[in-house]
Parts: sequence; C-alpha cells; structure tokens
Amino acid sequence: MSAFIPYSTQSIDASDYDAVLETLMSPYLTCGPKAGEFEDAVCSFTGALNAVAANSCTSALHLAMLALGVGPSDIVYVSAISFAASANCARMCGAQVEFVDVDPKSGLMDMDCLEQMLDEAQGEGRLPKAVVAVDLSGRCVDLKRLRELSMRYGFKVVEDAAHALGATFNGRIAGCGDYSDITVLSFHPVKIITTAEGGMALTNDAALAQKMRDLRSHGIVHEKERLKDQTRPAYYYEMQDLGWNYRMCDLLASLGISQMRRVNVFLELRRRKAAMYRDLLSGACGIGLPEPDTEGYESSWHLYQVRIENGRRDEVYKELRSKNIGVQVHYLPIYRHPYYWDTGRYAPLPGAEEFFSKTLSIPLHPTLSHLQQQLCAAALMSAAEGR
Ligand SMILES: Cc1ncc(COP(=O)(O)O)c(C=O)c1O
Repeated sequence: MSAFIPYSTQSIDASDYDAVLETLMSPYLTCGPKAGEFEDAVCSFTGALNAVAANSCTSALHLAMLALGVGPSDIVYVSAISFAASANCARMCGAQVEFVDVDPKSGLMDMDCLEQMLDEAQGEGRLPKAVVAVDLSGRCVDLKRLRELSMRYGFKVVEDAAHALGATFNGRIAGCGDYSDITVLSFHPVKIITTAEGGMALTNDAALAQKMRDLRSHGIVHEKERLKDQTRPAYYYEMQDLGWNYRMCDLLASLGISQMRRVNVFLELRRRKAAMYRDLLSGACGIGLPEPDTEGYESSWHLYQVRIENGRRDEVYKELRSKNIGVQVHYLPIYRHPYYWDTGRYAPLPGAEEFFSKTLSIPLHPTLSHLQQQLCAAALMSAAEGR
C-alpha cells in the first residue's frame, strides 16, 4: 500500500532549520526580538497595524475576548461549524455562547441567520457583545455584511482566520482590519505557515493591541510611563491586571519569520492544487466541489472540502482511510460536543447539520505531488460512486 497522505502537513526546509538554530545559539530563547520581528512580518503581509504573537490561536482567541471585555454577563455568537476553540474562548471568560447557522454548502456563517438572530435579540435586550466568525477552510466569510451588522447592532467582530492567512476579501488580505476588530491566526503545522504551536491576534486598534500584549504576559507592565508608581528604580514592575503566560517564544517566532518568507509560495501551491482538484473532479457523480476563487476573493485553501451528496460520507471516509488517504471531517457542529450539548441549551441547526453530514476534507498541502492528487481524486470518485 502507498504511504499515508495526510490532509495537510507542514513544509519545512533548510532555511527553517538555519533560522531556528541561529536563535538557539542567541541569548534569547523566550519572548525576545524574534517575536517582535515575526509580528512585523505578519503586519506587513496583511496590512494590519498591530500584531500580538501568542503560543496558540486558542490563546489569541482568549486574549481577543479578554481585550474586548467579554465577561460572565455577556453573550457571544459563534459560527456553528468550526474547531471548538472558536467558541471556548467565550466560555473561558464565563460568557454564554449562541451558535449561528452556516451555509450548508460552504460552512460559512449565514448572514441572513445572523441578522435574524440579532433582530430577535434586540427585541429581547439580549444582543451579543461579540461575534466570532470563521473563515472556514481559508475562504473569508462575508466580512462586509458582518461589518454592516456590527455597526447596526453594536457588537465587536472577531474574525477567526486560523485557516485563512493570505486569503482575500474584496481584494484585501484577511486581517487587514477593514472589517474586523480583531483577527486571529493559527500556525499549527497543518495551517498555511507553521511555528509548530502558535497563533497571533491582529488589530488596527492600538488600545486593544496593548491590552492583549499585557494580558499575554501576566498583566505585567514594565514601561515607566505606564506604572502607577513611577518613583521606583528600574527593577520595578507592576501587575496591573490578571493575565496569563501566552507568549510565543523566540525559537518558534524565528521559524515563523522563516516561513513567512515563503508564504506566497505556499499560497500559490495550494491555489494551483485546488484548481487541479477542480479539473480532476469536475463532473464527478455525487461530489459537490467548493466554490472556485474569483478575483479579489481568493481562498488560502487550507482545506479542500468536498460534499458527498448521496449520504455515503462515512463510507467514503472509511474507504479512503483504508487506502491510506488521510481524509478528515471538519467539523462536528460545536454545539454537538457533549460539553455544550449536555447543557440542553442547544438545538440542531439545519445548515450546520447538513454541512457536517456531507463534508469531507481531502489532502491538500504544498508538498502533495501531482501523482498523489490523481490517486486521491480517483479513490474519491470510486468511493463516492460505491464502486
Ligand atoms: C478555526 C480554528 N480556530 C482556532 C483554532 C485553534 O488553533 P490552535 O491550535 O493554534 O490553538 C483552530 C485549530 O485548528 C481552528 O481550526
């Protein structure tokens, strides 16, 4: 049998080894100059004014919630289809989570559903403090409509772009800050670039950035001009808020800097391979394909998610796995996880249920060969037809 083909994986080369080794031999292993350099690299790529590197996207999401002041008396709306962390960040602050249904084809937050929920919530005086919208698979959610709704209903927008480094919306790169208050990224190995574990929060609001930076490091303030007691010697620092240790270390930041030098190569390879799947699979019986890119609306193609239309998704999953093809399902609707479901507060949402029942992520990553792609496509078509 051929070697296992993962649905995604990192792409590491000699320049990455050199970058990490150089830092390993430097005086700074923890959060030092490389973390700042990595933040600058992501800012200049995305156009964001401020970046706060963290030790995961989950930490960045938590920092975002904390900076926005989300607390136990608040409600946060979250896309029903995502990794659990998109919702858990609100729970970590004690807030109540309500799930917004998604488009059954793309899995992206359905803005009509959101508007209806907001309209009803306004009547009941239960509007959310923030909405976490997910750029699922690397395709941006309708950020323009989301921004319009946020202006009308007064909530903050947190764009979960864990999948979407380099994705564009209306010709602008995700995280540029045109549409969201805070955008978060993940650098887990399956993502567009990697720092092993790692994440980042981007914002054009300097006060939010400062808050996240403080909370990332225990809520401790060092800068003399920000101290409450400015009479003490230089050793003095103050913990002004309850924070965490969510810092990204310089070893991993140096890997991030090195990876950012190749981000456009990774994106181009993913886009080319997505186009190749479209050619290989177009017209295949019972397989729905993701929307292709259009100018200014380009996915980062973190995932290539097909829809198995004939109710055989689980059979197709099992068959491809038995052939060493690392297909995956992204995701169980978050409300279906026992932590949420067992509260009895949540009911199935039709778009999320349909998306979950059909979706299958097939291998797509920069090092996937043409031959492997052909093999995956042929195996998928045969399994979907029940041959
Ligand atoms: C949409 C989404 N948000 C957040 C996260 C959390 O990212 P991390 O693993 O970097 O904490 C993930 C991880 O897969 C994700 O897919």
